[in-house]
Amino acid sequence: MNLIDSIAAFRSHSARLARPLGLVPTMGALHDGHMSLVRRARRENAALAATIFVNPAQFGPREDYHAYPRDLDADLRKLQDAGADVVFAPSAAEMYPAGFDTYVDVGIAERLEGAARPGHFRGVATIVCKLLTIVRPDRAYFGQKDAQQALVIERLNADLNLGAQIITCPTVREPDGLALSSRNAYLDPDERAAAAVLYRALTRARGAASPDAARRLVLAHVEAEPLASLEYVSVADAETLEELDTLDRPALVSLAVRVGAARLIDNILIE
Ligand code: PAF
Repeated sequence: MNLIDSIAAFRSHSARLARPLGLVPTMGALHDGHMSLVRRARRENAALAATIFVNPAQFGPREDYHAYPRDLDADLRKLQDAGADVVFAPSAAEMYPAGFDTYVDVGIAERLEGAARPGHFRGVATIVCKLLTIVRPDRAYFGQKDAQQALVIERLNADLNLGAQIITCPTVREPDGLALSSRNAYLDPDERAAAAVLYRALTRARGAASPDAARRLVLAHVEAEPLASLEYVSVADAETLEELDTLDRPALVSLAVRVGAARLIDNILIE
């Protein structure tokens, strides 16, 4: 497995990679959710690339960029064991050199997480656009846990003709339903137990007769957990993310919840 930290070196190396080439972009701190993407990309492609880059542009000024978990050696061991051919792990200066002044805005990014975290998807779309342009994969793999991110990236890839097939893979969960996330590392044992409320609340919404009833059920369920505080709950069209008044089409039920120092998100699809 090759570890590369410069764009020029990646470009000259990538000509030697077999096709189809699968890409798993990550911010590192790899857990089994990431590894499920890596395993699938390994199965479906002749060559496998991963990127590890904690992207400063997608964190707000008061967010956890500096605290975000980093463990490059452990990540490289996992990727090597999973059969990755190449890992691109650039520095922030390599990706955003002095004078960098071009950002990508995607319309669907304004709702939900985009409204709660201004600038977040601008940072995501910009870095993913750069990574897809540098790596030129045939397929790129993302997790359904970040459902809005996946929609933003599909739109970006289609609108800017980036040429990858975007594949969104199912959320991987702990036995109590908590979605795997690098930010789960911020939870102490009591908070970790409380964090199971996210998925429990989402599953309550499944039986609801209307979007409003679903929102009320989720709110009541999260409010009953003293260590959790609900930031938002949404029942939205699964493609446009417009809030729904009636459950007459596939809906994305999503929420953001603070548990201690962690801000956690999760979602389910209701067909
Ligand atoms: O989902 C993530 O880990 C990041 O948002 C991504 C897609 C790697 C962009 O930095």
